Amino acid sequence: MILSDNNKNNNIKNENLKPQETDFDKTFDNKFENSIRPKTFNDYIGQSALKETLKISIEASKKRGVSLDHLLFYGPPGLGKTTLAGVIANELGTGIRITSAPALERPRDIIGILMSMKAGEVLFIDEIHRLNKIAEEILYPAMEDFSLDITTGKSQTVKTLRVAVPKFTLIGATTKAGALSGPLRDRFGIIHRLEFYNIDELKAVIKRTAKILEVDIEERGAYAIAKRSRGTPRIANRLVKRVSDFAIVKYNGKITEDIANEALDNLCIDSWGLDNTDRAMMKLIIEKYDGGPVGVETLAAALGEDVKTIEDVYEPYLLQSGLIQRTPRGRKVSPEGYRCLGIDVPAYNGQKSLF
Ligand SMILES: Nc1ncnc2c1ncn2[C@@H]1O[C@H](COP(=O)(O)OP(=O)(O)OP(=O)(O)O)[C@@H](O)[C@H]1O
Ligand SMILES: [Mg+2]
Repeated sequence: MILSDNNKNNNIKNENLKPQETDFDKTFDNKFENSIRPKTFNDYIGQSALKETLKISIEASKKRGVSLDHLLFYGPPGLGKTTLAGVIANELGTGIRITSAPALERPRDIIGILMSMKAGEVLFIDEIHRLNKIAEEILYPAMEDFSLDITTGKSQTVKTLRVAVPKFTLIGATTKAGALSGPLRDRFGIIHRLEFYNIDELKAVIKRTAKILEVDIEERGAYAIAKRSRGTPRIANRLVKRVSDFAIVKYNGKITEDIANEALDNLCIDSWGLDNTDRAMMKLIIEKYDGGPVGVETLAAALGEDVKTIEDVYEPYLLQSGLIQRTPRGRKVSPEGYRCLGIDVPAYNGQKSLF
């Protein structure tokens, strides 16, 4: 059972595929996402080492009748952090409270949630790196000893009361593990980085989603979509939906390799899985800054994006694919990046340093 504190958590995040989403799109996409979101470890594709660790921890916590250790998942958007929290609660056979750090602005927000948890339940805090200091300090004893230190009175009459809270499991998720304070990070039993998915895993995600959508898809069709999914299940799922719409409207509904490629070309997603914003960013570095290095703030201003979106959404995949490189003086496009854009690789790059 998923009890959501606010709708924000279910919102589709800024996806480069759809920069100008309407409320209707969001509602529709939320329904679509919920229908395909895995509920069990069996449905949750990839991340096998992590799943094995979690299965053992869950089994042990059930046998010992204690709550599961607190978990922190981090990694780029759309890799399955929120989904995994839901799967864990489901496998534990318990409820999950979903919230995000910006919704825990006042002390009473976090205290209210902690006091109302049931023993063994999961508390999922998204964007946990954005917790304010007060909320963090309330969480420390709650995570460690399942208690809250509540202060009453003023100056000389001040008293601190220790109140017990039900034994819960905190699952934190963030795209920015580096921004988490040390004391908070240290209180998690398992800290795990979710990695980009390989082509076979993405194909499995795509075939599973096609099955749920009752769409016929050929092996090569699934491969064509997987290749352009940026290593990200959320994007793979969106592409299946888009390609399937295309196949229904223009052809007989079946997704073949040719149909997938035609549909993806129409969406301006190239064979690297890059979209217009990725390409615009790389082109900008090449054309305006001689291939870099250029600071992320400068890039963000020139692209009209905020720094966070570039760092959390666009950059991780470009870095992982080796298309751009991060240097102490900023970002630069790699020779592979030039080739991917069909631009000749210069002999010298950026500040005249040889590749
Ligand atoms: N391992 C997986 N197997 C199958 N589908 C997955 C998997 N991981 C994620 N998905 C699909 O991808 C979508 C995005 O996943 P999710 O919302 O959990 O990502 P996230 O890491 O929480 O992203 P964000 O950082 O933006 O919050 C989900 O709706 C789910 O359907
Ligand atoms: Mg999430």
